[in-house]
Amino acid sequence: MGKQGKKHNHHKATRRGGGAFFNPQEEEEDHQQYPLHPPSASQEEEEEEVEEEGPIEGQSDQNPSINDVPSKFLLYQQSVQSPKGDISYLQKFFLMYVGGRFPLHLQEDFCGTALLSTEWLHTDSRRTAVGLDLDLEALNWCMENNVNKIGADVYSRLSLFHGNVLHPFEARLIKFENQHLIGKLTLSDKKQDGSDTVLLESTVQGNPCGVTNGKLMKDFPLPERDIICAFNYSCCCLHRRIELVSYFEHARNSLSRKGGIFVMDLYGGTSSECELRLQRKFPSFTYIWEQDGFDIVQRKTRISLHFHLQKQQKKLRHAFSYSWRLWSLPEIKDCLEEAGFRSVHFWIRQMPDAEEIKSIKGFGSGREVKYEEVSSFEQKDSWNAYVVGVAP
Ligand SMILES: C[S@@+](CC[C@H](N)C(=O)[O-])C[C@H]1O[C@@H](n2cnc3c(N)ncnc32)[C@H](O)[C@@H]1O
Repeated sequence: MGKQGKKHNHHKATRRGGGAFFNPQEEEEDHQQYPLHPPSASQEEEEEEVEEEGPIEGQSDQNPSINDVPSKFLLYQQSVQSPKGDISYLQKFFLMYVGGRFPLHLQEDFCGTALLSTEWLHTDSRRTAVGLDLDLEALNWCMENNVNKIGADVYSRLSLFHGNVLHPFEARLIKFENQHLIGKLTLSDKKQDGSDTVLLESTVQGNPCGVTNGKLMKDFPLPERDIICAFNYSCCCLHRRIELVSYFEHARNSLSRKGGIFVMDLYGGTSSECELRLQRKFPSFTYIWEQDGFDIVQRKTRISLHFHLQKQQKKLRHAFSYSWRLWSLPEIKDCLEEAGFRSVHFWIRQMPDAEEIKSIKGFGSGREVKYEEVSSFEQKDSWNAYVVGVAP
């Protein structure tokens, strides 16, 4: 999971922007966020004294006290993701390239904690969402922290699957252990006929525990999807061309026969092909995006995300780590076309370069540059792109 300072102005300092539900600043600062891309090129902070290696387990994000260490997933959502900005672009792309109806059914591949899916469901009560990821810990965290906070109605429209995007039909459904929503029953006013009115409070209650319940995606009825997305450079997790084409074929086959879009993102630029350590400060933590050296033969690099928690004086080093192949835009286009997509569109945004980023304070992402559809684009220090495949 994770990005650098990508996105339009709806993203924070990481490759994607986020924290829609849990970041108190999100509402005010959503317009300034950007994604998992490197946060800022400023010098590394002074090292704190205590170092935590890896993720911290068993922390509750529900009622954190000052000394509690938030989970790596919460920090990721707050610093990396920006679901509102992504959704507005998804809607725009759908209306532009398909049109004729509103998109209702979303699939979020490589979904991690499925923050985008939960946000998608919030915005329209007719919407459904499917999330798919290999990481059971992230899916469970989603169930306990994102899904647990949404209404029962929203929960019933979300299907999370644990599995590989290369074999989606073998992915297994994740549900609450008790498989039902125990609403908080409240006895209220007597009716005129003397009977009590029982109100079912629309909140998912009980002790949610994400478990694989055995149901395979191929046995689970799902609506044809209007939009499938793979964000935060997740397609870079697939290293072989044959895998990429196979994944795109699965995506195309799951899209509605009435027309649908597949949307992914990608980053690049001269700064993306070298060692890089960037950071961005948030009110209670610093987010660090670290890129190892770049192998030009395999076009591979390793990305690590670290979080330094000021109050707790702790570091979550290597909270997330990815081995990525940095695909080029024409490679992605060729693979999408080979997988049967009718047309492919590039939307690119130039990102502030390293020097520029150093002068940006707080959440600001610098110049207000939007994504624009392009058919050619001069190389820059740093750029982010949405790639849109249209089917059938
Ligand atoms: C960079 S994170 C992106 C998470 C989220 N989509 C976001 O926007 O922040 C990549 C995610 O892809 C998942 N992943 C990697 N390879 C996968 C595969 N072959 N099938 C399913 N999920 C995969 C990882 O577990 C991780 O959650």
